[in-house]
Amino acid sequence: MNKYVINGGNRLCGSVDISGAKNAAVAILPATLLAEGPCLIENLPNISDVTRSLKILSEMGATVNVLNKSTVFIDTAHITSPLVPYEHAKHMRASYYFLGALLARYKTANVAMPGGCDLGARPIDRHIRGFEDLGCSVTIEPGGMIHASAEALVGNHIFFDGVSVGATINVMLAASKAEGLTVLENVAKEPHIVDLANFLNSMGADIRGAGTDVIKIHGVSSMHGANYTIIPDQIEAGTFMAIAAATAGDIVIKNIIPKHLESITEKLVKIGATVEEYDDSIRVFRNGPLNKITLKTLPHPGFPTDMQPQMTVLLTVAEGSSMIIEDIWDNRFKYASELRRMGADIRVDGKVAVVDGVPFLTGAPVRATDLRAGAALVIAGLIAKGTTEIEDIYHIERGYENFAEKLQSIGADIKTVYVPDRTIAPAF
Ligand code: UD1
Repeated sequence: MNKYVINGGNRLCGSVDISGAKNAAVAILPATLLAEGPCLIENLPNISDVTRSLKILSEMGATVNVLNKSTVFIDTAHITSPLVPYEHAKHMRASYYFLGALLARYKTANVAMPGGCDLGARPIDRHIRGFEDLGCSVTIEPGGMIHASAEALVGNHIFFDGVSVGATINVMLAASKAEGLTVLENVAKEPHIVDLANFLNSMGADIRGAGTDVIKIHGVSSMHGANYTIIPDQIEAGTFMAIAAATAGDIVIKNIIPKHLESITEKLVKIGATVEEYDDSIRVFRNGPLNKITLKTLPHPGFPTDMQPQMTVLLTVAEGSSMIIEDIWDNRFKYASELRRMGADIRVDGKVAVVDGVPFLTGAPVRATDLRAGAALVIAGLIAKGTTEIEDIYHIERGYENFAEKLQSIGADIKTVYVPDRTIAPAF
């Protein structure tokens, strides 16, 4: 177990390179199962969710050769065990993408119920209904194993009753090799949906409309391997934008797609930051005070829920009273009690938080409750007076590549410290 120790108060200035997108990577890696030849995937982020996805593939029998820290060769020609066991699925939500990928390849899949960040109820009913609409039968066995199978996958017209990133990706994977045309309506439009569709098309799939409300998929009978470069991570970039604004710093954030950051830019400008956009980089700096705002999370292109905790930290030290409405998840303010320990004034009522700005936060021992909450606590530590110690940073390591090192390179006083196992041995 490691923890971060942060001495707050430094203005962070300089430039950082953004890694490949976690949420695209964890969809693209299972998608290599659809290829009948080898794939070369570039710009993979070096994070634990990627390591785990590669381990799942290699335990299935795929050849996985890591060529350098961001490039991997994957050949799924000889899969021997098309199964995702609980010991892997419990750590990451995206393990359920192996369902759609294995269904497409073998018309049968066994994947344990997924874990991941605890953000409230995370049902998978839309995934299951989508698979059923393609002709699959899906059962969840008593031990929590999801079993899906089909005699044949057959294209269909599917209207999702709510927008879901995961269900869109899963059904898109399965439909890529279904017979005939599948039309998916009311789909998610996040950048990683488009990235997965581009990857599948580069392998020979026929998918149109990703990034809009309707995706049309003409199923193909076979796909070939491909070389593909993953898009930059929208949320890692947004987190560094928030860090520049929070620390009154000046950071050039490189290797990004500015279009993916528009909703974040808009809110940061309202809060008081200056944002300059270039072709594949963005500069964020702040000289004046932080202003109160109202923030509501929404599916893309609205403000991303995965940036909500980081923005809340800025508002804890803004002038006046801000309101944050979490419209995606039922329980995404668990980190508020940790911020209160640092002196923040936050009241939470269900999916709404009201934040009254205080003059400053004070360093304290805190615990990362999930991935983005962990990133938010790092930002809080960077601006707090004194020392903040953040435990359970394994959550953060699931989604941020070399977070502490990147922060050090722009002037943060942050260290990763090993914490010995604190299990107390029984007295007798
Ligand atoms: C993905 C992201 C996650 C992000 C979320 C919303 C990945 C690996 N994770 O999660 O970081 O916070 O999108 O942008 O990409 N829902 C149902 N039934 C379902 C599926 C979802 O009711 O079958 C509900 C959820 O409870 C939630 C909403 O739909 O309220 C959105 O969830 P969804 O878009 O599916 O999120 P994930 O794909 O799990």
